[in-house]
Amino acid sequence: MIQPSHVGIIMDGNGRWATARGLPRYEGHREGLKTLKKTVETAINRGLKHLSLFTFSTENFFRPKEEVDFLMFLFRQAFKDYIGEAIEKGIRVKIVGNTKLLPNDIQDLCDEAVQKTKHNSQITVYFAIAYGGRREILDAIEKILQTAKPEAITEEWFKSFLYCPDMPDVDLLIRTGQEFRISNFLLWHLAYSEIYFCDKFWPDFTEVDFTLAMEFFSSRQRRFGRTPEQAGNKFEITKCNNIINSNLQSETA
Ligand code: FPP
Repeated sequence: MIQPSHVGIIMDGNGRWATARGLPRYEGHREGLKTLKKTVETAINRGLKHLSLFTFSTENFFRPKEEVDFLMFLFRQAFKDYIGEAIEKGIRVKIVGNTKLLPNDIQDLCDEAVQKTKHNSQITVYFAIAYGGRREILDAIEKILQTAKPEAITEEWFKSFLYCPDMPDVDLLIRTGQEFRISNFLLWHLAYSEIYFCDKFWPDFTEVDFTLAMEFFSSRQRRFGRTPEQAGNKFEITKCNNIINSNLQSETA
């Protein structure tokens, strides 16, 4: 079975999971955190190398204050409670987002988690917090304007200004919660992702659902713009990009 290297997850449906049970929405987030933890364990057991989790978007700041406060409380708890376990399990934590928008103590907890796990290599888990895909691109442009113009404008060069320059493209995106959109998540990295929609609300997402998503990925032929016949031969997107870039350079020479 062909495995993805990088899986991204939009963990949607916490609020509706709670409402359907007559519970306040925050109970859905609390349950969602338990599912998040189990999913990281599943990902490790499957030998996945990169996992990105959409935990809080820039747009989520506009939710009712009590809900935002509860999510911030949950982040604090999670970073404090699970950092030891992350170190033990070889999880390298990375944060993607405009963390300056977060309360100072959470910024510190994020920095601490990144620092304390930076030598781990079992899996890299990217927490998208205060994240917006368009904002990430605009923030990159702002950094670019402060630097010298390069010889060639390439994708690799542009990527080096994103929040996590070494984050690979997402191979498989999973979205739960019966919505069918990408909601401003990792716009740059999702360019060629296979997308799997799971009907369940996030707190109900199980190891079996993860397996189904992986099987879906394995059944896909990834073509990166080529024909089915070409794609039958193993090739990589970076090789395509190198060809495109060298063609562009010879055109402008
Ligand atoms: C989307 O469901 C989920 C979120 C906005 C928050 C996701 C957070 C967690 C899974 C737990 C916290 C994570 C950490 C790292 C501590 P929704 O609220 O949009 O649900 P709805 O669509 O049913 O309203």
